[in-house]
Amino acid sequence: MHLILLGAPGAGKGTQGSQLAETLGIPKIATGDILRTAVREGTDLGRKAQEYMDAGELVPDEVILGLVREALANEEARRGAIFDGFPRNVSQAESLGKILEEGGRALDAVIVLDVPDEVIVERMSGRRTDPVSGEVYHIKFNPPPPEAADRVVQRPDDREETVRHRLEVYTEQTAPLIAYYEERPVPVERVEGTRPIAELQEEILSRLRR
Ligand code: AP5
Repeated sequence: MHLILLGAPGAGKGTQGSQLAETLGIPKIATGDILRTAVREGTDLGRKAQEYMDAGELVPDEVILGLVREALANEEARRGAIFDGFPRNVSQAESLGKILEEGGRALDAVIVLDVPDEVIVERMSGRRTDPVSGEVYHIKFNPPPPEAADRVVQRPDDREETVRHRLEVYTEQTAPLIAYYEERPVPVERVEGTRPIAELQEEILSRLRR
């Protein structure tokens, strides 16, 4: 199964994607996570990406496409993948179509998480990540367990000003992908992303079972 999770920054793609990956037994390919690891490790890729990420801008397509090809070539992705944070614009969507076709694969669904901007800003300001496990939490909606509470950190691009810019970039470049996929023969499932995390996961799974 190949799925795209589409939604604004902070809509819950990572949270839902991790749970879906576990339930469906296929990897989550999260371009943002791959880039953050590269930044942390100080690799060439990380150095190229950091400036764009800190400014809330998209990293150039050629960098991203290389990452996605590599992730799809992994043995664990042979049965499918959940794309989180990719594609991010029409050009990336077209490239993904070609990459899947070349590999004899096809998209099964596009899940759109609808969340209003003001909810997003609240989510981002409370988001914390555990640098040890990579788990994502929220100080109010999904608090970290006691053993992780002292080590969780805030992402540098989660400052309110940068979040607002990321939302603009989403509206201009990524949101048009909803119409793009609606015009293609792939089911586009829009779900209410403001529902509680577990309820939303159930809703997504039930849409996929249809
Ligand atoms: P990326 O990491 O992809 O960030 P994003 O799309 O902005 O999404 P986020 O990770 O911020 O949010 P999310 O939707 O995963 O929400 P989460 O589950 O964490 O990209 C970062 C940067 O990398 C980009 O700006 C760009 O520079 C670059 N980049 C990445 N991919 C790229 C690409 N393809 N092309 C070019 N550049 C690229 O949830 C958010 C918070 O809300 C958490 O605290 C969570 O606990 C909480 N929460 C989640 N669901 C709920 C719920 N239902 N109710 C209450 N709280 C919830």
